[in-house]
Amino acid sequence: MTISENLPLVIMKNVKYEYSNGTVALQGVNLNVVKGELIAIMGKNGAGKTTLIRTLNGLIKPTEGDVFLNGENSRNKSIAELSNIVGLVFQNPHHQLFSNSVEEEIRFSLKNSKFRKEEIESRVEETLSQFTLNKYKNRSPLTLSGGETKKLAIASILCRDPELLVFDEPTLGQDRREISFFVKVVKEEINKGKTVIIVTHNVEFAMEYIPRTILMTNGKILADGPTHEILVKSFLADKSSLVLPQVFQFILALNTNGISCSTEIKTKDEMILFLSKYIKENLRFKKRRFEYR
Ligand SMILES: Nc1ncnc2c1ncn2[C@@H]1O[C@H](COP(=O)(O)OP(=O)(O)OP(=O)(O)O)[C@@H](O)[C@H]1O
Ligand SMILES: [Mg+2]
Repeated sequence: MTISENLPLVIMKNVKYEYSNGTVALQGVNLNVVKGELIAIMGKNGAGKTTLIRTLNGLIKPTEGDVFLNGENSRNKSIAELSNIVGLVFQNPHHQLFSNSVEEEIRFSLKNSKFRKEEIESRVEETLSQFTLNKYKNRSPLTLSGGETKKLAIASILCRDPELLVFDEPTLGQDRREISFFVKVVKEEINKGKTVIIVTHNVEFAMEYIPRTILMTNGKILADGPTHEILVKSFLADKSSLVLPQVFQFILALNTNGISCSTEIKTKDEMILFLSKYIKENLRFKKRRFEYR
């Protein structure tokens, strides 16, 4: 397959999805994703986030409308073909792991991948070491801790080297070390030119690492744009049940209390810098007033 540099990697045109029980989970969804982007999909429970990403690797086909990957309609592709382009890591890793050992899980995932038979064993080794899963390689995935299981789920998708990586709630239940590891993996993939979509409820995580956010509500896209613009709009937060980022809540509180603080500040580190400058300037000012008396 030839991959055009100019064509968006994903185009969704007027996508609707209705489950067999009549629930309309997606309606009128239009979306373009350009190669190399890092995107968050956010929105309240039941907004349609998981349904949307399941249309990307063909697990479900739209009831109406079309999804194009590299310009090709997903309707004309099998799940096996699509899974070589799109790697989807489920919210619940147990829904995607079923081998008897960690090593087998990776090996199984590489079957029918783009890697030749003779490359598979070295790829298994590389993946086990990249994800520091070597020491568990003979263990059943069922015996791993929550964090380790999530890591294995990510490893078993990444080893296929897909063009588009999609993660459903990857930071849920993860400690700080696991989140840092995940951020490192995502950065490496983006540096390699891969495209990454992350479904998350974690506003601080999105604010810090993800440039573009798609906000969903009731099966529709409510807003799509730079994360720091989307996540600080109170009316959008209200409509999508999101909590405003803590740094932004703090900025609002400072401004309400007469300390003028720019809404351009996005991270904790930028806030610490602003506060240290503010405190130093005010101390200097007070000291000067004291000296004049
Ligand atoms: N298999 C299914 N059969 C019927 N309805 C479903 C099915 N899966 C999801 N739905 C419904 O479709 C809607 C969208 O669900 P979806 O799982 O896509 O939401 P979500 O945004 O991922 O939510 P969450 O944040 O809770 O994971 C919900 O109303 C949900 O109840
Ligand atoms: Mg979901």
